[in-house]
Amino acid sequence: MKNFFDIVAPIYEKLHFGAQKTFDRIESSVVFQPLDQVIDLGGGTGRIAKFLVNKVQKVIVVDASDGMLKQCLQRHPELSCVRAEAQNLPFANDSINKVIVVDSFHHFQNQKQVVKEIRRVLAKNGEVVIEEFNPLKIIGKLTIIMEKLFRMGSVFYIPSSLADLFSGNGFKVRLIEKNRAFYYLIGEKI
Ligand SMILES: C[S@@+](CC[C@H](N)C(=O)[O-])C[C@H]1O[C@@H](n2cnc3c(N)ncnc32)[C@H](O)[C@@H]1O
Repeated sequence: MKNFFDIVAPIYEKLHFGAQKTFDRIESSVVFQPLDQVIDLGGGTGRIAKFLVNKVQKVIVVDASDGMLKQCLQRHPELSCVRAEAQNLPFANDSINKVIVVDSFHHFQNQKQVVKEIRRVLAKNGEVVIEEFNPLKIIGKLTIIMEKLFRMGSVFYIPSSLADLFSGNGFKVRLIEKNRAFYYLIGEKI
């Protein structure tokens, strides 16, 4: 059965602008290395991952929506686009240097298991970067209402709660822009 993202996939990149700004924030938060293996988890159409091409050795978009992945393959053939659930990643232990998760973590089911999966696939000192809506700000509150109306089953975290979830599961955590509408969590695998 088609889900919400399968349906909006063909127009997703037109609706969702500001990709360059988001990537700039991510790039100012972690240092990408030329030999890095990077996963964009819940990476959708590859809207953000495309900026990593030629900056790292490999960038893989992982997503659960066939519709989003079809767009990823058509729009960004230079990316690897892989169908998988965030809670069960098809990658070896300690094999990935960075995981980025933009506007997706609140969509994942069984988020504690996703945190464990991210930690499993990351190499020692590998980093995860998460961009999320801040539920304490007006845009976050409106997004929560909208996603409830669409019955998307999203689970949002205030910045300190997301930090607790990651620090309780083997990450050293930094929060960036935690008082703004979108905040960033950087977690280093320890
Ligand atoms: C709001 S979109 C964000 C896409 C992309 N990160 C971006 O910023 O353009 C959320 C994405 O998460 C994906 N998603 C939701 N649940 C997932 C899961 N359990 N595993 C993998 N991807 C999932 C959806 O299919 C969708 O493409």
